[in-house]
Amino acid sequence: MKKLMAANWKMYKTQREAKETIRELISLINDNMPSEREILIFPPFTSLDVVCNEIKEIEYIHAGAQNFYPAIEGAYTGEISPKMLLDVGCEYALVGHSERRHIFLEQDDLLAKKAHFGIDSGLKIIFCVGEKLEERKAGKVEDVLKEQLKQGLKKIKDVSSPEKVLNIAYEPVWAIGTGEVAGEKEISEAHAIIRKELRSMFGTQANNIRILYGGSVKPENADSIISIDNVDGVLVGGASLSAKSFSKIIFA
Ligand code: PGA
Repeated sequence: MKKLMAANWKMYKTQREAKETIRELISLINDNMPSEREILIFPPFTSLDVVCNEIKEIEYIHAGAQNFYPAIEGAYTGEISPKMLLDVGCEYALVGHSERRHIFLEQDDLLAKKAHFGIDSGLKIIFCVGEKLEERKAGKVEDVLKEQLKQGLKKIKDVSSPEKVLNIAYEPVWAIGTGEVAGEKEISEAHAIIRKELRSMFGTQANNIRILYGGSVKPENADSIISIDNVDGVLVGGASLSAKSFSKIIFA
Protein backbone atom coordinates (compact mmCIF):
# COMPACT_ATOMS: atom_id res chain seq x y z
CA MET A 1 0.00 0.00 0.00
CA LYS A 2 1.28 3.44 -0.88
CA LYS A 3 1.59 5.95 1.94
CA LEU A 4 -1.01 8.69 1.62
CA MET A 5 0.27 12.24 2.13
CA ALA A 6 -2.91 14.28 2.56
CA ALA A 7 -3.38 18.06 2.77
CA ASN A 8 -6.47 19.47 4.46
CA TRP A 9 -6.74 23.10 3.39
CA LYS A 10 -9.83 23.67 5.57
CA MET A 11 -11.45 27.10 4.93
CA TYR A 12 -8.37 28.61 3.29
CA LYS A 13 -7.50 29.72 -0.27
CA THR A 14 -9.40 31.44 -3.04
CA GLN A 15 -9.42 29.78 -6.47
CA ARG A 16 -6.39 31.76 -7.54
CA GLU A 17 -4.44 30.85 -4.38
CA ALA A 18 -5.40 27.19 -4.76
CA LYS A 19 -4.19 27.15 -8.37
CA GLU A 20 -0.90 28.84 -7.43
CA THR A 21 -0.29 26.43 -4.54
CA ILE A 22 -0.99 23.29 -6.57
CA ARG A 23 1.19 24.50 -9.48
CA GLU A 24 4.04 25.32 -7.10
CA LEU A 25 3.69 21.92 -5.42
CA ILE A 26 3.85 20.09 -8.77
CA SER A 27 6.92 22.08 -9.80
CA LEU A 28 8.65 21.35 -6.46
CA ILE A 29 7.98 17.63 -6.90
CA ASN A 30 9.36 17.93 -10.40
CA ASP A 31 9.11 14.27 -11.44
CA ASN A 32 10.79 13.10 -8.22
CA MET A 33 7.64 11.73 -6.60
CA PRO A 34 8.60 8.77 -4.39
CA SER A 35 6.93 5.74 -6.01
CA GLU A 36 5.72 4.35 -2.67
CA ARG A 37 3.71 7.51 -1.84
CA GLU A 38 0.71 9.40 -3.21
CA ILE A 39 -0.68 12.87 -2.57
CA LEU A 40 -4.23 13.86 -1.70
CA ILE A 41 -5.47 17.46 -1.52
CA PHE A 42 -8.66 18.55 0.25
CA PRO A 43 -9.36 22.08 -1.05
CA PRO A 44 -12.48 24.01 -0.05
CA PHE A 45 -15.49 23.26 -2.33
CA THR A 46 -15.02 26.42 -4.39
CA SER A 47 -11.51 25.32 -5.45
CA LEU A 48 -12.19 21.63 -6.07
CA ASP A 49 -12.81 22.12 -9.77
CA VAL A 50 -9.66 24.25 -10.15
CA VAL A 51 -7.49 21.70 -8.32
CA CYS A 52 -9.02 18.72 -10.19
CA ASN A 53 -8.22 20.44 -13.49
CA GLU A 54 -4.60 21.07 -12.51
CA ILE A 55 -4.00 17.47 -11.44
CA LYS A 56 -6.00 15.51 -14.00
CA GLU A 57 -2.92 14.36 -15.95
CA ILE A 58 -0.91 13.54 -12.81
CA GLU A 59 -1.53 10.04 -11.50
CA TYR A 60 0.14 10.51 -8.10
CA ILE A 61 -2.08 13.43 -6.95
CA HIS A 62 -5.74 13.01 -6.02
CA ALA A 63 -8.40 15.41 -4.80
CA GLY A 64 -10.92 15.04 -2.01
CA ALA A 65 -13.81 16.94 -0.46
CA GLN A 66 -13.83 18.06 3.16
CA ASN A 67 -17.53 17.29 3.52
CA PHE A 68 -20.69 16.08 1.72
CA TYR A 69 -24.29 15.18 2.50
CA PRO A 70 -25.38 11.53 2.29
CA ALA A 71 -28.11 11.76 -0.37
CA ILE A 72 -28.13 11.56 -4.19
CA GLU A 73 -29.80 14.98 -4.54
CA GLY A 74 -32.70 16.81 -2.98
CA ALA A 75 -33.93 19.76 -0.95
CA TYR A 76 -30.85 20.09 1.29
CA THR A 77 -29.97 23.77 1.10
CA GLY A 78 -26.27 24.41 1.36
CA GLU A 79 -25.20 20.80 0.87
CA ILE A 80 -23.17 18.94 -1.78
CA SER A 81 -23.69 15.31 -2.81
CA PRO A 82 -21.15 12.57 -3.63
CA LYS A 83 -22.48 12.56 -7.21
CA MET A 84 -21.53 16.25 -7.58
CA LEU A 85 -18.08 15.60 -6.13
CA LEU A 86 -17.39 12.66 -8.45
CA ASP A 87 -18.61 14.83 -11.33
CA VAL A 88 -15.77 17.38 -10.83
CA GLY A 89 -13.15 14.61 -10.59
CA CYS A 90 -12.97 14.34 -6.82
CA GLU A 91 -12.13 10.82 -5.57
CA TYR A 92 -11.96 11.08 -1.78
CA ALA A 93 -13.89 12.67 1.10
CA LEU A 94 -13.33 13.28 4.79
CA VAL A 95 -15.87 12.07 7.34
CA GLY A 96 -15.79 12.69 11.08
CA HIS A 97 -13.07 15.34 11.20
CA SER A 98 -12.89 16.71 14.74
CA GLU A 99 -13.90 20.19 13.52
CA ARG A 100 -17.09 18.65 12.04
CA ARG A 101 -17.69 16.71 15.26
CA HIS A 102 -17.03 19.57 17.68
CA ILE A 103 -17.86 22.83 15.88
CA PHE A 104 -20.73 21.55 13.72
CA LEU A 105 -21.86 18.94 16.26
CA GLU A 106 -22.03 16.04 13.81
CA GLN A 107 -23.04 12.92 15.72
CA ASP A 108 -22.22 9.24 15.27
CA ASP A 109 -25.44 8.46 13.38
CA LEU A 110 -24.87 11.10 10.73
CA LEU A 111 -21.20 10.11 10.44
CA ALA A 112 -22.17 6.46 10.00
CA LYS A 113 -24.61 7.42 7.23
CA LYS A 114 -21.98 9.57 5.53
CA ALA A 115 -19.27 6.91 5.67
CA HIS A 116 -21.59 4.23 4.28
CA PHE A 117 -23.30 6.40 1.65
CA GLY A 118 -19.99 7.93 0.54
CA ILE A 119 -18.33 4.56 -0.03
CA ASP A 120 -21.44 3.17 -1.72
CA SER A 121 -21.47 6.17 -4.05
CA GLY A 122 -17.89 5.51 -5.12
CA LEU A 123 -16.00 7.98 -2.93
CA LYS A 124 -12.94 6.78 -1.03
CA ILE A 125 -13.47 7.76 2.58
CA ILE A 126 -11.05 8.98 5.21
CA PHE A 127 -12.83 8.46 8.50
CA CYS A 128 -11.30 10.52 11.33
CA VAL A 129 -11.17 9.51 14.97
CA GLY A 130 -9.39 10.93 18.00
CA GLU A 131 -9.69 11.55 21.69
CA LYS A 132 -9.95 14.87 23.54
CA LEU A 133 -7.33 15.84 26.09
CA GLU A 134 -9.58 15.15 29.07
CA GLU A 135 -10.35 11.69 27.67
CA ARG A 136 -6.63 10.94 27.36
CA LYS A 137 -6.00 12.19 30.90
CA ALA A 138 -8.80 9.93 32.16
CA GLY A 139 -7.17 6.89 30.50
CA LYS A 140 -10.02 6.49 28.00
CA VAL A 141 -8.10 6.57 24.69
CA GLU A 142 -8.82 2.93 23.81
CA ASP A 143 -12.53 3.16 24.70
CA VAL A 144 -13.02 6.39 22.76
CA LEU A 145 -11.27 5.16 19.61
CA LYS A 146 -13.07 1.81 19.61
CA GLU A 147 -16.45 3.45 20.13
CA GLN A 148 -15.89 6.03 17.36
CA LEU A 149 -14.90 3.24 14.96
CA LYS A 150 -17.76 0.93 15.98
CA GLN A 151 -20.38 3.68 15.69
CA GLY A 152 -19.03 5.40 12.61
CA LEU A 153 -18.36 2.28 10.54
CA LYS A 154 -21.33 0.20 11.65
CA LYS A 155 -23.08 0.33 8.27
CA ILE A 156 -20.01 -0.64 6.24
CA LYS A 157 -19.72 -4.31 5.39
CA ASP A 158 -17.28 -4.48 2.49
CA VAL A 159 -13.90 -2.75 2.21
CA SER A 160 -12.25 -5.37 0.05
CA SER A 161 -12.56 -4.11 -3.51
CA PRO A 162 -10.68 -1.26 -5.21
CA GLU A 163 -14.03 0.56 -5.52
CA LYS A 164 -14.84 0.38 -1.81
CA VAL A 165 -12.00 2.15 -0.10
CA LEU A 166 -11.80 3.10 3.54
CA ASN A 167 -8.94 4.89 5.27
CA ILE A 168 -8.76 6.00 8.89
CA ALA A 169 -7.09 9.14 10.24
CA TYR A 170 -6.07 9.17 13.89
CA GLU A 171 -6.16 12.81 14.95
CA PRO A 172 -5.98 13.44 18.70
CA VAL A 173 -8.15 16.53 19.17
CA TRP A 174 -5.58 18.17 21.46
CA ALA A 175 -2.94 17.99 18.69
CA ILE A 176 -4.96 19.60 15.88
CA GLY A 177 -3.84 23.12 15.06
CA THR A 178 -2.19 23.48 18.46
CA GLY A 179 1.45 22.83 17.60
CA GLU A 180 1.25 19.97 20.11
CA VAL A 181 2.23 16.66 18.47
CA ALA A 182 1.48 13.23 19.89
CA GLY A 183 4.67 11.39 20.84
CA GLU A 184 5.86 8.32 18.94
CA LYS A 185 4.67 6.02 21.70
CA GLU A 186 1.21 7.62 21.80
CA ILE A 187 0.85 7.43 18.01
CA SER A 188 2.06 3.87 17.84
CA GLU A 189 -0.29 2.75 20.64
CA ALA A 190 -3.31 4.49 19.13
CA HIS A 191 -2.62 3.07 15.66
CA ALA A 192 -2.26 -0.43 17.10
CA ILE A 193 -5.63 -0.06 18.91
CA ILE A 194 -7.24 1.09 15.65
CA ARG A 195 -5.70 -1.75 13.61
CA LYS A 196 -6.89 -4.31 16.13
CA GLU A 197 -10.43 -2.92 16.17
CA LEU A 198 -10.53 -2.84 12.35
CA ARG A 199 -9.44 -6.51 12.30
CA SER A 200 -12.24 -7.41 14.66
CA MET A 201 -14.72 -5.56 12.44
CA PHE A 202 -13.48 -6.49 8.96
CA GLY A 203 -11.21 -9.51 9.44
CA THR A 204 -8.37 -9.73 6.93
CA GLN A 205 -9.94 -6.94 4.85
CA ALA A 206 -8.61 -4.62 7.56
CA ASN A 207 -5.18 -5.00 6.00
CA ASN A 208 -6.44 -2.90 3.04
CA ILE A 209 -7.22 0.04 5.34
CA ARG A 210 -4.59 2.74 5.65
CA ILE A 211 -4.29 4.50 9.01
CA LEU A 212 -3.05 8.09 8.75
CA TYR A 213 -1.81 10.28 11.58
CA GLY A 214 -2.90 13.92 11.79
CA GLY A 215 -2.28 16.72 14.27
CA SER A 216 0.45 19.38 13.91
CA VAL A 217 2.48 17.40 11.35
CA LYS A 218 5.30 19.63 10.06
CA PRO A 219 8.44 19.23 7.95
CA GLU A 220 10.45 18.89 11.20
CA ASN A 221 8.48 15.96 12.61
CA ALA A 222 7.11 14.25 9.48
CA ASP A 223 10.17 12.02 9.11
CA SER A 224 9.84 10.34 12.51
CA ILE A 225 6.02 10.13 12.33
CA ILE A 226 5.90 8.48 8.91
CA SER A 227 8.32 5.76 10.00
CA ILE A 228 6.24 4.63 13.01
CA ASP A 229 4.67 1.15 12.73
CA ASN A 230 1.11 1.16 11.37
CA VAL A 231 1.38 4.78 10.16
CA ASP A 232 0.32 4.60 6.51
CA GLY A 233 0.27 8.31 5.82
CA VAL A 234 -0.35 11.75 7.30
CA LEU A 235 -3.20 14.27 7.25
CA VAL A 236 -1.73 17.75 7.38
CA GLY A 237 -3.60 20.99 8.05
CA GLY A 238 -1.59 24.17 8.72
CA ALA A 239 1.70 22.95 7.23
CA SER A 240 -0.01 21.93 3.97
CA LEU A 241 -1.05 25.47 3.07
CA SER A 242 2.42 26.30 1.80
CA ALA A 243 3.63 24.21 -1.16
CA LYS A 244 7.20 24.43 0.14
CA SER A 245 6.46 23.04 3.57
CA PHE A 246 4.04 20.37 2.26
CA SER A 247 6.58 19.22 -0.34
CA LYS A 248 9.12 18.73 2.46
CA ILE A 249 6.59 16.52 4.24
CA ILE A 250 5.97 14.53 1.05
CA PHE A 251 9.70 13.86 0.75
CA ALA A 252 10.20 13.18 4.49
P1 PGA B 1 -3.09 20.59 11.74
O1 PGA B 1 -4.51 20.02 11.25
O2 PGA B 1 -2.04 19.88 10.91
O3 PGA B 1 -3.15 22.06 11.46
O4 PGA B 1 -2.95 20.26 13.18
C1 PGA B 1 -4.69 18.64 11.00
C2 PGA B 1 -6.12 18.38 10.58
O5 PGA B 1 -7.02 19.05 11.08
O6 PGA B 1 -6.39 17.49 9.76
